[in-house]
Amino acid sequence: MPVPAAVHVLVLGGTTEARRLAESLAGDRGVRVTTSLAGRVAAPRMPPGEVRVGGFGGPEGLAAWVREHDVDALVDATHPFAAAMSRNAAEAAALAHVPLLALRRPGWVAQDGDRWHSAGSLAEAAGLLPALGERVFLTTGRMGLAAFATAGLDALWFLVRSVDAPEPPCPARMEVLLDRGPFDLDGERELLRRHRIDVLVTKDSGGDATAPKLTAAREAGIPVVVVRRPPVPEGVPVARTPDEAARWVARLHASG
Ligand SMILES: NC(=O)c1ccc[n+]([C@@H]2O[C@H](COP(=O)([O-])OP(=O)(O)OC[C@H]3O[C@@H](n4cnc5c(N)ncnc54)[C@H](OP(=O)(O)O)[C@@H]3O)[C@@H](O)[C@H]2O)c1
Repeated sequence: MPVPAAVHVLVLGGTTEARRLAESLAGDRGVRVTTSLAGRVAAPRMPPGEVRVGGFGGPEGLAAWVREHDVDALVDATHPFAAAMSRNAAEAAALAHVPLLALRRPGWVAQDGDRWHSAGSLAEAAGLLPALGERVFLTTGRMGLAAFATAGLDALWFLVRSVDAPEPPCPARMEVLLDRGPFDLDGERELLRRHRIDVLVTKDSGGDATAPKLTAAREAGIPVVVVRRPPVPEGVPVARTPDEAARWVARLHASG
């Protein structure tokens, strides 16, 4: 009997969930998995399976890659804030006629005692800061620091935590802390205390790896500016966990 060809799944990655999905698919002999990384992080954690690095050149480039490499299905497992890539994925899937799934971990939910302020963008978050505090713990990543580099915030001091060193423009008064999650509660408590932080800024990234800062802020009564997520492109089905996404792939496989 001929051996059926493996289903080739392209996972757009750069997240823990993307790596978990690749781990789960790599164990399935009926699946060939390729993970795509943007190439932003100097030393990324490598998933199993094949890996390619760098942009595709917009939706047309991604669609061409999908056709050239006989990709049967696309999983957009990029970070909830990688909105450009998610739009490209939706467009490319339509151009190349392949099914697309978005893998998005759930966002965080405020609890009793939280002092959250919602912002629609990094610029809006920056605008809220002068009324909230003077010593800011900024955890929105090294891209987009320009929004906090305005003269209106020169009186504030920033502790910027990112995986790789940020590039200018940066806030006038800042200290950079190079670190990569997961972070634990004791460490986050200590960080807030040591740097006398009085306001925290975060994207609504969701997940456990970076959630302890929210608990530490709640305990200390510190306000948190939470930047809302961009929406998933219309019509794209969403899985909440790597397991759910793996089941979607298994169904394709069974029906294909
Ligand atoms: N945004 C965040 O807060 C955040 C946080 C943690 C991790 N990440 C990860 O970092 C990467 C870049 O995020 P971003 O917010 O800069 O993306 P973005 O603004 O949505 O995408 C900008 C461009 O980067 C390229 N790109 C993005 N993700 C890619 C991937 N997985 N594989 C190949 N090319 C990719 C694409 O270039 P072309 O148009 O040339 O294809 C895309 O048009 C993503 O993989 C994301 O999962 C982002």
